[in-house]
Amino acid sequence: MDKKNREEQNCRVNLAELPLKNDEISPFHPDETIILTSPVHGFNYPPLVIGFLLRLPKGKNNVILMNTRAGMKIGRLITTGLSGITFYFAAFVLMLKGYSIKGMVPVDMPSNWISVHPGLNSNTINYLHEQNYKRVLATSNRVLSGKTCFIALREIAQDLLIAPIAVAYYFIGRFIIAKTYYTSSKCNDCGLCITMCPAKAIKRINQRPFWTMKCESCMRCMSNCPQKSIETAHGFIAIIIFAYSAVITKLLYPILKTTLLFTSPFINMIFESLIFLILIALGYRIFHLLLKFKSFERLMLLTSLTWYRFWGKRYKAIKNYGQK
Ligand SMILES: Cc1cc2nc3c(=O)[nH]c(=O)nc-3n(C[C@H](O)[C@H](O)[C@H](O)COP(=O)(O)O)c2cc1C
Ligand code: SF4
Ligand code: SF4
Repeated sequence: MDKKNREEQNCRVNLAELPLKNDEISPFHPDETIILTSPVHGFNYPPLVIGFLLRLPKGKNNVILMNTRAGMKIGRLITTGLSGITFYFAAFVLMLKGYSIKGMVPVDMPSNWISVHPGLNSNTINYLHEQNYKRVLATSNRVLSGKTCFIALREIAQDLLIAPIAVAYYFIGRFIIAKTYYTSSKCNDCGLCITMCPAKAIKRINQRPFWTMKCESCMRCMSNCPQKSIETAHGFIAIIIFAYSAVITKLLYPILKTTLLFTSPFINMIFESLIFLILIALGYRIFHLLLKFKSFERLMLLTSLTWYRFWGKRYKAIKNYGQK
């Protein structure tokens, strides 16, 4: 909301970070309007935000749900991100607790997911910030003057179509994507990534950061490492997928073909997922140990797309955009 409008309506704005897992959440004053802003991760809010929603005490406040998503720019056209079940899941949980949903507003910020696509250039980042600033201002003026704003409902059909992927990503993000990060020997063990991680997901093992499965892949560590030494190990994931297919198709299937396991596709799926998880957890430990060998590290860097100049621009949102 702009300053003039805030003053006219005698409106005070408090910015608060989401409490962490064990922090207490105090109830809101009944007159307060809550604006929940979070990035979309895998077509849903990230687990930390879902945890917050589930722990939030009951209340009767008005709530505006706002998610930031992967915006891109092709020419002057902004391509939008995909919200998936983000709004519907959050609205469902909050309404059960008594809250009243007054807005669902997606904001297409520059995509920061450089594990899966090359980093955006600064012109695109500036352009997207400029467009979003105008849009968010217009929306917040509208909502805080008492009107509702459900822009997100225009995309309900595509959001529901991708809902199954949102459920799958909840596990894939945790157990696979979190295990793709590592540091090269440029790391000077400063510990910044460990202290700034919002999920407290990085441990220090053998003088090197080690990513646990608590990681939410928010990219904060990767984008802010002063040495630019954190990479995504695409080569490692390729090795795991290869090892998995070899184990499942060549070794286990022939042995298990005659057992009960093969009578239920559901048990098969659980069994195969477990094998994949064990492979990735064990593989990551070994990978982490082997990184101390220069030739292994070099091989991993060569197979990490984030290491290449054309791909690996780290993304930093422009701080306090529009605040003079
Ligand atoms: C692990 C991960 C998963 C993501 N999943 C989605 C997604 O499902 N849909 C989408 O539109 N954007 C997705 N994004 C992009 C982010 O939502 C987007 O870059 C972010 O909201 C940018 O806002 P920020 O600068 O405030 O972090 C994902 C990003 C990451 C790192
Ligand atoms: S922030 Fe970078 S340099 Fe510092 S410990 Fe983490 S990876 Fe190493
Ligand atoms: S990506 Fe980095 S900062 Fe973000 S949750 Fe994972 S370890 Fe923490």
